[in-house]
Amino acid sequence: MVTAEQDFREAEPRKVERIVAGQTEEGALWGGRFSSGPDYTMQRLSKSTHFDWRLVSYDLDATIAHARALAGAGHLTAEDLETVIAALETIREDYLADRVHPRESDEDVHGALERILIERVGETLGGSLRAGRSRNDQIATFVRMYARDTARALRNVLVECVRILIQRSEDVGDSAMPGRTHFQHAQPVLVAHYLLAHAWPLMRNIQRLDDWSVRNNVSPYGGGALAGGGLGLDPQAIAAELGFESVQPNSLDGTSSRDVVAEFLYITTQIGLDVSRLAEEIIIYSSAEFSYFSLHDAFATGSSMMPQKKNPDIAELARGKSGRLVGNLTGLLTTLKGLPLAYNRDLQEDKEPLFDSVDTLLVVLPAMAGLLSSLTFNLETMERNATAGFSLATDVADFLVRKGVPFREAHEIVGALVSHCEHQGIELHEASDEDLAAISPHLSSDVRSAMTLEASLSAKSGRGGTAPEQVAKQRAELAALVDALDKS
Ligand code: ARG
Repeated sequence: MVTAEQDFREAEPRKVERIVAGQTEEGALWGGRFSSGPDYTMQRLSKSTHFDWRLVSYDLDATIAHARALAGAGHLTAEDLETVIAALETIREDYLADRVHPRESDEDVHGALERILIERVGETLGGSLRAGRSRNDQIATFVRMYARDTARALRNVLVECVRILIQRSEDVGDSAMPGRTHFQHAQPVLVAHYLLAHAWPLMRNIQRLDDWSVRNNVSPYGGGALAGGGLGLDPQAIAAELGFESVQPNSLDGTSSRDVVAEFLYITTQIGLDVSRLAEEIIIYSSAEFSYFSLHDAFATGSSMMPQKKNPDIAELARGKSGRLVGNLTGLLTTLKGLPLAYNRDLQEDKEPLFDSVDTLLVVLPAMAGLLSSLTFNLETMERNATAGFSLATDVADFLVRKGVPFREAHEIVGALVSHCEHQGIELHEASDEDLAAISPHLSSDVRSAMTLEASLSAKSGRGGTAPEQVAKQRAELAALVDALDKS
């Protein structure tokens, strides 16, 4: 095993191979004022190509737009512009074919790409594109472009999850299940109502992504290092070419703010939390004690030792990975806390949490989509339990209220009835007429009409309630929202 110390000692000789001090090093974008090259430890800490290499396409897009702006302002000839664009396109092809890679000596994606460009078009032309821009405005722009693209991918898989839940809520018809508060039996609800309750939060996350994209749609490019560009380039043209609606009105703010990244990470975290709640219920409800759900074989795993096992690993991983999503958001917020204007190197720490949260959700959500669409709902078991735990008690109290009994008194009466039934080991509707009358003269025998599952469900007919026609309505409402998204 190579320890960090060994690795460091082996790396030591590299120091002597370092490029002559006092000039810009290959793969780095600075050096002129330094009397020595960077120490190995400095280089190792500073390096970001192992994670920012995935931004190559955005860097190339922006460099092409930037070259056009330089030519537009008279800093690059038409011929040079053509040469540069052609070279950048060959770099893109090589990148996509995995033929070009960062070198050990490259500091970051920007330095690596300048080195590669210089190799292809020579130092004079390759080194002229840095004019009028800084890695500070570049990177602030690229994280926005990356987040914009991945937001689309996340949105698509969220839409798929919402559609699956809508479909599954139709599949289960009007069957009922226990509704719970404090995870204890509370009142019966439709299974469809329950499934849609997991779909709405996902829909809100889609809406959050859309709201966020408005704030993300502003380009920091042209802000330079911090004070703005001084070479007469047109940032609006660059912004338009990169697909942004407008340019940041303040270059200090543009280069240093990462609130859009933090907001994006909040949304990914919220998605993780919403999915982890659903995952938790899938885990519990597919256990033998409940048997409400059965997992499809293709979306479950076995045990290496216990041959009988069928484990809900997808749901467990979804639940577990929500922890790292929270961690990524928390980490970034902590990094941002107290940073002064404008660019600080701390900001390099925005990318790994961003990439990790996106990567995480893009494996979790498709697996959850598969799990949900293949889940079997054991409707009989669910419905059999729907009225357990005296879950129609509130309906009996409501019945008394409709008869003019004040709720406080109705609550007491039904409490006494529940206590009686509990002692007798019977359900509410099994209490005899005599017992009912003994508990309260208000409990006439027609109270039994309130003690059925159907009555309980259909009574919840206010907006958002679990009455079958209300559930059908909310499903149509949600489906319309999803359809409208496709058109937007
Ligand atoms: N790699 C840096 C980042 O991701 C961008 C470089 C800016 N560095 C600098 N020394 N100004 O934030």
